[in-house]
Amino acid sequence: MKQQSIDLLKAPSGKPLTLFREGRNEFLQTSIGEKYPVKDGIICFLNDNSITGNNRNFQKMYDRIARFYDISVKLYALIKEGSEKKRLFEYLSLIEVKDGNKVIEISIGTGRNIKYLNPNAEYFGVDISKGMLRRCRQKMIRNKREIILIQAEAESLPIRNETFDVVFSAGGFNFFNYPDKAVLEMLRIAKSGTKILITDETEKFRLKHARDNFYKKIPIQDPRIFLPSSCANIEYKEICNGDLYVLTFEKLK
Ligand SMILES: C[S@@+](CC[C@H](N)C(=O)[O-])C[C@H]1O[C@@H](n2cnc3c(N)ncnc32)[C@H](O)[C@@H]1O
Repeated sequence: MKQQSIDLLKAPSGKPLTLFREGRNEFLQTSIGEKYPVKDGIICFLNDNSITGNNRNFQKMYDRIARFYDISVKLYALIKEGSEKKRLFEYLSLIEVKDGNKVIEISIGTGRNIKYLNPNAEYFGVDISKGMLRRCRQKMIRNKREIILIQAEAESLPIRNETFDVVFSAGGFNFFNYPDKAVLEMLRIAKSGTKILITDETEKFRLKHARDNFYKKIPIQDPRIFLPSSCANIEYKEICNGDLYVLTFEKLK
């Protein structure tokens, strides 16, 4: 992990973080003793005991299903759209990653989107589920892709202001405890002029599965209601036969 990448992260005090090793243990620490363990290459900014509500429920659920996630979503995409690439490109085609860009995926899960994006960029991923992040890390090592993985909530990102050229979140937004806070965080860490993309299931999709207990628990609101006035070029459309929405907007310069 390069110090240059660590410098983009933010402890609550705002003091710089440095990587330390004690025997086999690695951690990031500030000069006033804020300390974040790095386990299996994942930086843990999350105190599991402080996670509440849906964030807690979905963290537990994704930790449980992490092993089966990739195969099940791949099969689902195959049945629905003919291939995973085709399904993901319905939204990934709206993201432009230039060489050298700093890119972050919020609720990255196992990182299945990253392999379709320009490899000549600097990648970061945030998720609450350690199980999903571990799978992500294994996959990135297999695919020889470098990425900084952070365990944190979308509502409270341990990242400095105005850092990223590309910010996106796929499939996590409907789960967040506080989607309004998550949008403000995405805007905060984006450079001005950055395009932000959010995609997730539509209310229409949820109603189609109304008898499924899983979907009963997820209220789906139109994501546009969470956008503050500091957004420009707001575009919203339904994709994948109306099952998903994709919302893009820019941080005003
Ligand atoms: C359906 S998966 C999507 C994973 C990946 N983005 C993809 O497209 O395959 C949803 C992910 O959102 C994560 N998640 C849910 N609530 C979160 C929160 N409040 N903050 C960060 N991640 C969250 C879950 O742990 C899970 O990995």
